[in-house]
Amino acid sequence: MMMMNKKIKWWQKSVVYQVYPKSFNDSNGDGIGDIPGIQQKLPYLKKLGVDVIWLNPIYQSPQVDNGYDISNYRAVDPELGTMAEFESLLTAAHTQGLKIILDLVVNHTSDQHPWFKAAEQSKSDPHHDYYIWKDPVDGHEPNNWGSSFGGSTWTYNQALGQYYLHLFAKQQPDLNWENPKVRQEVYDLMRFWLDKGIDGFRMDVISLISKDPKYPDGPVIQNKKYGSYYAGAANGPKVHEYLHEMYQQVLRKYDIMTVGETPHTNADEAVLYTKASRQELNMVFHFDHMHLDYGKYGKFSDNRFKLPDLKAVLSRWQTKMYDHDGWNSLYWSNHDQARPVTRFGNDGPFREKSAKMLGVVLHMLQGTPYIYQGEEIGMTNADFKHIEDYQDIETHNIYHEFKQKGLADDFIMRSIYLKSRDNARTPMPWNAHQNAGFTTGQPWLKLNPNYTAVNVAKALADQQSVFYFYQRLIALRHQYAVITTGKYDLLNPDDPNIYAYTRSGDQQTLLVVANFSAQPQTYQIPAKLSFKDSKQLLSNETSPKQIEQQQIALGAYGAVIYLLN
Ligand code: GLC
Ligand code: CA
Repeated sequence: MMMMNKKIKWWQKSVVYQVYPKSFNDSNGDGIGDIPGIQQKLPYLKKLGVDVIWLNPIYQSPQVDNGYDISNYRAVDPELGTMAEFESLLTAAHTQGLKIILDLVVNHTSDQHPWFKAAEQSKSDPHHDYYIWKDPVDGHEPNNWGSSFGGSTWTYNQALGQYYLHLFAKQQPDLNWENPKVRQEVYDLMRFWLDKGIDGFRMDVISLISKDPKYPDGPVIQNKKYGSYYAGAANGPKVHEYLHEMYQQVLRKYDIMTVGETPHTNADEAVLYTKASRQELNMVFHFDHMHLDYGKYGKFSDNRFKLPDLKAVLSRWQTKMYDHDGWNSLYWSNHDQARPVTRFGNDGPFREKSAKMLGVVLHMLQGTPYIYQGEEIGMTNADFKHIEDYQDIETHNIYHEFKQKGLADDFIMRSIYLKSRDNARTPMPWNAHQNAGFTTGQPWLKLNPNYTAVNVAKALADQQSVFYFYQRLIALRHQYAVITTGKYDLLNPDDPNIYAYTRSGDQQTLLVVANFSAQPQTYQIPAKLSFKDSKQLLSNETSPKQIEQQQIALGAYGAVIYLLN
């Protein structure tokens, strides 16, 4: 069993705030958020009360995939600032008691990286084997894998007569982790940043670094042209060997946190990544709750999640990590996902209330919570009317794919509105003035049209805002050990409207009850939960909700946290 007699690590008590640098705050009026802009806003993050900042990639990049295509791992992208500015940010953060973790993108590089430039030159260049090349099979691609961003995962190089692999865009060639030199290069660049004093890494698609050497065709679903690469690339044969090696050679030498982004990883597999004694990663981001509203067309569908499914997924992960000495990452969204209020709550009349309710449900779970920028003010999806208003490569690719399939425009634009990654990437609205105070220039991506109503200045001026509610949630985690260590139990798996669970340990029990519906609901507390008295720690309801005759009455999207004695 976890935690008993065990020292709690700093990252187990921490709340992480994710900053998407390009969209956070522009300091020089070029329309692109930057590193000095982040530094200006440290007092804001301090006020919110978070402990750690995760920065999406800041490295030199042609920006085909917003920095996830890196051409120099040891340089800061000039759009975002300079190395000196990054060092200044890191020092300022540390001075204010904030830690900083960086994105580590080493499943692939940019095709503009000098390694790939050399690799393309000739088969005999030592860098050729830094990437994954295959000869054509019967004049075709080596297998049927389809890229995450559309098209084949294989691009042909005429001069070499070989295909190279890219699970993402063709400008993002996959590194060959089988080559020990590649692994040493990766460990070196990690040390470069760790020696500057950063506090850890978020590891991009780290579950994909080891491919099945047979490169088997993947299953083709729903008349798609290409097969899925997951069976042959996710959680591959050597991924745990590589991560353990990384731990031995790099990670164990620093007091840091690591979180792996692990697409197509279930809770059993996650135990292998995160169980402390295995010495790999501290925690992973899974996608099980992100998949609940997938439908006929995969991610870009207009399905809505069902609460019993959400409870089943979150509960499975809570129990699995607790029982096997792993650790959870807790998130509703990030730079790749829709805004949670739109997706899991209600972005109409109950925007603020449902944002707070979602905060309660997530922040009282066991694990390390991640707040994606703007979530703390209840930002919504951006209702852009034209495809030209979107910038994201995935959004444009799906638009063309759906057009080619002959799908109706209404459906295409609706599914993009619901799922485009740009929903998360619209510039941070700091106030109701021109360009929301994000930039004095032309923002690189349009603002969410509702910025005059949903912005930081407004949230800070209102004691009842989502911001101050999140501030309290974070403070509760710092105050009550049971939130870090307590055992999780789901109380009502089948209830379609209410999510109720307890956290118990350290002589304390928390009871969390949340209404996911727009109608008032009454929750009957199970008789087994008998208690003499209870204290309400936090609620998004205006009047305190008393427990009467083992019942709690909640209004639309109401949520409450009790401490039971
Ligand atoms: C991860 C990132 C995403 C990126 C992809 C390829 O999923 O979060 O933004 O496009 O990896 O690097
Ligand atoms: Ca700028």
